Amino acid sequence: MISNRLKSIDLSTTMEIAAKAIELKSAGVDLIDLSVGEPDFPTPQHIKEAAKNALDNNCTKYTKNKGTNELRTAIAAKLERENNLHYTTEQIIVSTGAKQALFNAVQTIVDKGEEVIIPTPSYVSYIQMVKFAEGKVIKVDADETNRFKIHVNSLKKAITKNTKLLLLCNPCNPTGAFYDKDELKEIARLVLENNIFVICDEIYEKLLYDRIEFCSFASLNEDIKKQTVVVNGFSKAYSMTGWRIGYAAAEQNIIDNMAKLQSHSTSCASSVSQAAALAALTSLQDSVEEMRIGFEYRRNFAFDSLTQIKGLSVVKPSGAFYIFPNVKSFFGKSFQNYAVKNSHDLALYLLNEAKVTVVPGSGFKCEGYIRLSFANSIENLNEGVLRIAKALNKLK
Ligand SMILES: Cc1ncc(COP(=O)(O)O)c(C=O)c1O
Repeated sequence: MISNRLKSIDLSTTMEIAAKAIELKSAGVDLIDLSVGEPDFPTPQHIKEAAKNALDNNCTKYTKNKGTNELRTAIAAKLERENNLHYTTEQIIVSTGAKQALFNAVQTIVDKGEEVIIPTPSYVSYIQMVKFAEGKVIKVDADETNRFKIHVNSLKKAITKNTKLLLLCNPCNPTGAFYDKDELKEIARLVLENNIFVICDEIYEKLLYDRIEFCSFASLNEDIKKQTVVVNGFSKAYSMTGWRIGYAAAEQNIIDNMAKLQSHSTSCASSVSQAAALAALTSLQDSVEEMRIGFEYRRNFAFDSLTQIKGLSVVKPSGAFYIFPNVKSFFGKSFQNYAVKNSHDLALYLLNEAKVTVVPGSGFKCEGYIRLSFANSIENLNEGVLRIAKALNKLK
């Protein structure tokens, strides 16, 4: 009854864990949820006010398929101002979250059997989006010894004459890895030599620490810009996950085809959310920086406290709000009924024994690790890490 295409798709691990966490919390379990991929700060007040005004002004109808002119003009201005990227309003599409923009871009570019290179560990949905397009996923290890970044040589080896696309996430979910301008240049050189397209997911652009400077992949030069789809959104920088607004910018032909697909799925993004997103982009950006500072403080706290736990090896993330400890030393150990063979077992053990949710690395196609989100209060992070340490200590 179910189509073969859907049968090959896995449910999002993070969504699955989040659903489990909501279920347990509503059953009254005292749970520390370190699995979430969203800022815990409320959406800034002025953005909420803009949405209320939009409702009062009856901005409640379908918008243009690609998004309102006002929002797309503001996005074009942002890309110019902050990323040194010039796109016309028509080269921008607003979607229902960056996720829909990514999905549409993958379906637009990838044909059956074409190869898509995905640095791994990777965001849970990339692989499934490629499978949906019937493309062939080629994983390239972004290993811990290189701070979870791919080596250019590994990328080179993975490229064949059938390679169509590279899916890059910078900064990266789940590792917080960050590619600087020089590293991006090396990747861009290979991309151009081999005539490959790139979708660069820059949704964590604003969440960078240690004063490092962001460089948008497409801004490297005009040639690379033509081969790139820039994806970004409002969920993470403005704490607007539930509003579901993201966007993509690229060559006209790509954007027009993404719009065609969107016209038959969601028609357009929510009108009220688009008005809120417009306010987010066109007003003072103080709240973005305040949240970033908050995340940096929590990143430092999470890193310092996790490195104290015997058996964990931790790379300090440069961006996003995740930390990805190596937990391999606990494999083969057990406590009471729990035998830990892999990251999934360990996540279940921590859920049941420590009442802490984390996401197993296997969800990101990287066994041997767990992902913890530090988008949580210091109190919760402190309590969560204490509970994890206690539970891990019981494993013998
Ligand atoms: C790397 C990455 N890309 C895209 C998304 C989707 O973001 P949105 O809420 O805009 O759909 C997420 C959300 O977790 C993400 O981590």
